Amino acid sequence: MKNFYFLINLLLIIFTIQKHFIIYAQEPLASLWGINDTEIPRYLNIEKNLTLLDKIVKPFLNDSSFGGTWIDVKLNKVFINTVNLSQVPIIKSLPELKTYLDFLEFQPANNSLEYLKYSFNQIISILVSEYKPHNIFISIKPKDNNVVIALGLDENDEINQKFINATLHYGPKIRYLPSKNSSILRRADDREKIQVRLSGGDNIVGDSGLCSVGFLARKHCGPPCIKRKKDYIVTAGHCVSSLNVRFNHFVDGDAFFVGTMVSFSKNKYDYGLINIRKMDKRLKIRPSIRNFGSQDRELLITDSIPASSHGAHLCKSGAKTKLTCGYIESFNGVFTDINDIILIDLIFTNSLSNEGDSGGPVFYFFRFTFSESSWH
Ligand SMILES: *[C@@H]1O[C@H](CO)[C@@H](O)[C@H](O)[C@H]1NC(C)=O
Ligand SMILES: *[C@@H]1O[C@H](CO)[C@@H](O)[C@H](O)[C@H]1NC(C)=O
Ligand SMILES: *[C@@H]1O[C@H](CO)[C@@H](O)[C@H](O)[C@H]1NC(C)=O
Ligand SMILES: *[C@@H]1O[C@H](CO)[C@@H](O)[C@H](O)[C@H]1NC(C)=O
Ligand SMILES: *[C@@H]1O[C@H](CO)[C@@H](O)[C@H](O)[C@H]1NC(C)=O
Ligand SMILES: *[C@@H]1O[C@H](CO)[C@@H](O)[C@H](O)[C@H]1NC(C)=O
Ligand SMILES: *[C@@H]1O[C@H](CO)[C@@H](O)[C@H](O)[C@H]1NC(C)=O
Repeated sequence: MKNFYFLINLLLIIFTIQKHFIIYAQEPLASLWGINDTEIPRYLNIEKNLTLLDKIVKPFLNDSSFGGTWIDVKLNKVFINTVNLSQVPIIKSLPELKTYLDFLEFQPANNSLEYLKYSFNQIISILVSEYKPHNIFISIKPKDNNVVIALGLDENDEINQKFINATLHYGPKIRYLPSKNSSILRRADDREKIQVRLSGGDNIVGDSGLCSVGFLARKHCGPPCIKRKKDYIVTAGHCVSSLNVRFNHFVDGDAFFVGTMVSFSKNKYDYGLINIRKMDKRLKIRPSIRNFGSQDRELLITDSIPASSHGAHLCKSGAKTKLTCGYIESFNGVFTDINDIILIDLIFTNSLSNEGDSGGPVFYFFRFTFSESSWH
């Protein structure tokens, strides 16, 4: 259940992080890695191997001697932040790691994971509640070997400045995100044929403007239960201001009724459930993700195992910025918004996203094949 929610949260969260302009002539994953489309399967395998190795090595790393790990697919390495360098020969001599030594890179680092967790917790539990900063992203980023505090649009806000000043004691990295206007958004250069299939990432419009379809969810009742199963579309909670908001899907100006929001949450976890019992009969729901601008129009959802290493790729499909991919920079991130709402357990990536993408699905490519989409 937890995964289910934080995947949604990611989307809310990345909407103000707009750093990278990605060229869409290729598959988004190929442009992320700077490779040709045909090389994607090989790089996915490298990523899988590194993720596995990352999992193998982590249990041997003492939090007080090491400062986190991340993978780099292009370099084919697992990087290990090393505070106590005399631990390196000990780790290297472990029989469990003998065959992987070429793939391990020990990086000198100053901050132990123990210290990073401590300062992160101090900042979250004491300083955030005391200063109530606005639109701030806080997480431990192993690649920076630090707690990173990123400020959204209010960098000159007095409240935020006081908060930042108070955090300096712990030595975090402070980043100022580009202002909302400065991001480059992709042009709508991939007008699609009219088709009324609803996939993850497609537009839905409620009372707060554009949002995106996340994925299908089914409510199970226990074994004695004989009621019909209920299907929902999952999207972001902040897509509505109240319950029972009606959502439509738009295709070239035509509105198709999707359903009404029957449950939502904005605090801690950001999600909303749209009941689709009365959905327009012409709409067909697909357990897939819209692959905007690619030859394969839909990506089939095969599984929902979350990606698990810093540095692994993660993509999202949204109605505003379409399909983009980025690297995982942190897990367990925290976001405080302007209304004292705090979201937790977030994954931060560096991929392009914007308002309107909210609620859209986040996923990673498990396998990549070049076949025609066979949906009709
Ligand atoms: C991609 O393929 C083209 C032609 O096959 C080649 O010229 C180019 O160097 C390749 N790019 C990369 C990043 O491998
Ligand atoms: C992944 O690991 C397997 C087993 O160690 C190895 O055979 C394979 O060549 C690796 N793949 C890549 C792309 O490095
Ligand atoms: C980590 O190292 C510290 C000091 O070297 C030691 O006190 C602690 O017990 C170690 N922790 C684990 C889990 O091995
Ligand atoms: C670093 O690791 C070595 C080897 O385990 C240990 O003897 C030493 O006490 C450690 N240094 C610190 C500062 O923890
Ligand atoms: C560790 O801290 C020292 C002193 O502040 C600094 O000179 C050095 O660059 C730091 N090392 C890393 C890897 O950040
Ligand atoms: C910044 O923090 C220090 C101590 O944490 C405090 O003495 C100082 O007044 C603060 N400055 C501002 C401008 O708030
Ligand atoms: C951003 O856009 C708004 C209106 O769209 C404008 O008022 C504001 O000055 C712009 N900010 C920057 C930094 O360009």
